Amino acid sequence: MIKAKNLVKKFGDFIAVDNVNLNIKSGEIYGFLGPNGAGKTTTIRMLTGTLKPTSGEIEILGMDMKKNEIKIKANIGVVPDEPKMYENLKGSEFIEFIMNIYEVDKDESKKRLDEICEAFEIDYLDSFIGDYSHGMKQKLMVASVLMRKPKVIFLDEPTVGLDAKSAKILKMLLEKYSKEGATIFLTTHILEIAEKMCDRIGIISSGKLIAEGTLEELKALSKTSEKQSLEDLFLELTGAGELDDIIKEL
Ligand SMILES: Nc1ncnc2c1ncn2[C@@H]1O[C@H](COP(=O)(O)OP(=O)(O)O)[C@@H](O)[C@H]1O
Ligand SMILES: [Mg+2]
Repeated sequence: MIKAKNLVKKFGDFIAVDNVNLNIKSGEIYGFLGPNGAGKTTTIRMLTGTLKPTSGEIEILGMDMKKNEIKIKANIGVVPDEPKMYENLKGSEFIEFIMNIYEVDKDESKKRLDEICEAFEIDYLDSFIGDYSHGMKQKLMVASVLMRKPKVIFLDEPTVGLDAKSAKILKMLLEKYSKEGATIFLTTHILEIAEKMCDRIGIISSGKLIAEGTLEELKALSKTSEKQSLEDLFLELTGAGELDDIIKEL
């Protein structure tokens, strides 16, 4: 469903994404975990066709990004880290706009939208988007993506700005859609989110994919490297191993 081969993005001399390979299967919830500045957003922007790679290949739904960018974009769902929406539209007008662009089955999408709005407690579709908080926009963006039921869904730091209850509902919704066959790629800098939400986790640091596996596989890895917990492994792999020393110095 999602394939990247030797994916590289350079900004000038700086390598933001360094030879990343991905192979994500149908129905998987894949977590792309890494600290701030690791290259998560840059990777997701390349996978969703909004940023051109410096080199490497991308295949989504079996289609080559270079040849089928428009078709890929029509068939995926994207929740960016900063949901950019037309502030002068009401939530309901934004939803109508999305339904028209994507030419979805309106009856079916409306039914799904109602369910998602109820779950997420979205009762503000009659207000202007300009008056929404980050979390309210985030939830509307998620609803506008999930109502289309795309086969592949990308979410960049989806829980940032969501309260605990909304984050839990998002987790349940993503699980439901993945069980129905959707493939989900989400980024997070929070280990706990990756642990709780994802079937498989890739750890990215300084642009490199440095470890990948199921939670159990990563935990086994952390034991062999004599780290007690996955958190210790994550901190060590991402270069925060000297954290204890730093804190002692403070
Ligand atoms: N347009 C850009 N121009 C220059 N550097 C960039 C640009 N976008 C991202 N970067 C740099 O690439 C690195 C990775 O950024 P990003 O992918 O946003 O990280 P993350 O999402 O993991 O926090 C950072 O060092 C960032 O400053
Ligand atoms: Mg980011």
